[in-house]
Amino acid sequence: MSQSKILLAEKEIPRQWYNIQADMSQLPPPPLHPGTKKPAVADDFAPLFPPALIEQEMTKERWIDIPDEVLAIYRLWRPSPLYRAHRLEKALGTPARIYYKYEGVSPAGSHKPNTAVPQAYYNKQAGVKRLSTETGAGQWGSALSLACGFFGLECTVYMVKISYRQKPYRRSLMEVWGAEVIPSPSDRTEAGRKVLAKHPDSPGSLGMAISEAVEDAVSREDTRYALGSVLNHVMLHQTIIGLEAKKQLDLVGDYPDVVIGCCGGGSNFSGLAFPFLADKFNGRKVRALAVEPAACPSLTKGTLAYDFGDTAGLTPLLRMYTLGHSFVPPGIHAGGLRYHGASPLISQLCHDGLVEGAAYPQQAVFASALLFARTEGILPAPESAHAIHGAVKEAEESAKTGKPQTILFSLSGHGHFDLAAYDAYFSGQLEDVGYSEEEGKRALAELPEV
Ligand SMILES: Cc1ncc(COP(=O)(O)O)c(C=O)c1O
Repeated sequence: MSQSKILLAEKEIPRQWYNIQADMSQLPPPPLHPGTKKPAVADDFAPLFPPALIEQEMTKERWIDIPDEVLAIYRLWRPSPLYRAHRLEKALGTPARIYYKYEGVSPAGSHKPNTAVPQAYYNKQAGVKRLSTETGAGQWGSALSLACGFFGLECTVYMVKISYRQKPYRRSLMEVWGAEVIPSPSDRTEAGRKVLAKHPDSPGSLGMAISEAVEDAVSREDTRYALGSVLNHVMLHQTIIGLEAKKQLDLVGDYPDVVIGCCGGGSNFSGLAFPFLADKFNGRKVRALAVEPAACPSLTKGTLAYDFGDTAGLTPLLRMYTLGHSFVPPGIHAGGLRYHGASPLISQLCHDGLVEGAAYPQQAVFASALLFARTEGILPAPESAHAIHGAVKEAEESAKTGKPQTILFSLSGHGHFDLAAYDAYFSGQLEDVGYSEEEGKRALAELPEV
C-alpha cells in the first residue's frame, strides 16, 4: 500500500521563496498611480507598505531569502503535509492519482499565515506600530491577527459584513489574537460612509473592505496596510507551498500532470502552481488550473484591463482580469472568492495560455466538498472546495477515458468555521447564483480610463 501522508522534516523547509517574475517572458504591465495614471514608483507605495515589501513587489530576482525570524514561526506548522487521496480515488473509481497539499494545519486554518507572518515581520522591522486590513471569509484577518500578535503589532480588520454575520466565530478568533474587528461597510471611514448612504443594507465586498482598510492606513502615520492576496509579494511568500510539494512528490517519485487551486485574488493557487510553472518554462509538461465561483468569474468572464483593487478607487491601478471594481459579487458562501479581480501575475499567465481558468456553481462545489469530507475526513473551507471540485472533475475524466494522470490540488484551508454554509447546503437553502451579465456590463462600464 503506498503512503497516505508524505511528510518532510522541519529542516527541509525551503529557505527561499520563488519569484516567478524572473522567468516570465511576458510580465504584466506596471501598476499605475490612481491619480496621475503614470507607472507607480516605489514612493507611491510608501504610505501603504514597508520598503522591504515594496522591493519584493518589484524585484526580478529569482530567489528571495526567507528571514530566520519568519522561518522560526513557519516551523510551528510547516512543512505542511502532502496527502495521497486514496479513499477519494477509490470512491471515484478513477485511475488518476490524486494528491492534496493541506494548508489547514496552520494555527489560523489556511495558507494565509504564509504571507501574514513575513508581512508583519517586515512592518515591524520598519518601525510600523499598527496594521489595517480587510477580510472576506475571515481567514486572512485571522492570519494577520495571529502574525501581528507574534510581532507585537496592533491590528484592525475590516470584515465584509455578510461574512461577519455568517461567521461570528472567525471574529472571536481574531479577537483572541488581539485584533479589533469592524464589519464593513462601516461608518469609520469616508469610503464606508459613502456606501452606507447609498446602500444601508449593503452585504459588503472585499473591494469595499479594502477601501476602508487603505483609507485607515493612509490617514495614520503609525499604520500601514496589509493585503492577503493579489499583489506580487503575496504570491511570492505563498510559493513555499509548491516548493514543499515538489520535494514531497519527489519522495514518492511522482510529478503532476495538472496542478489545481481555487482562485480569489490568486495566492494559494500561485503558491502551489508557480514552482511547477518554473518547470513548464523549461519545457516540462504540466497544466495549471485556477478554479473560481460561477458567481464571481473574473478569470473566465472578466476583462483584462487596468482597474482599481478596491471599490472606492484608492489603490494603484492593476492590470488584471476584472469584473469591474464596482461589481458586488452575490453573497455566496466562499467569501474569500468574492473578489472582482485577480492577481496581475495570474492574469498575465492566463492571457498567455500558461494557466487555465474554470468556474463552477456552489452546489456542485459543496457536493464535492462532502464527498471529500466523507472519504478523506477533512472538512474543507468552501473556497478550497472549488479546487476539490476541479480535481474531482479531472479524476472523473480519467475514469471515463481510462487514462491515468497525476492530479495535485491545494486544500487551502479547513471549514471548521464554515458550518453554517454546510447547514445551508443540507437544508436546501444554498442557491446557485450565476454571474449577472447585466450587472457585469454596468460594472465594466465604470472601469477607469487609462
Ligand atoms: C481557505 C481559503 N482559500 C482560498 C482563499 C482565496 O484567496 P486566494 O485566492 O488569495 O488564495 C481564501 C480567501 O480568504 C481562503 O480563506
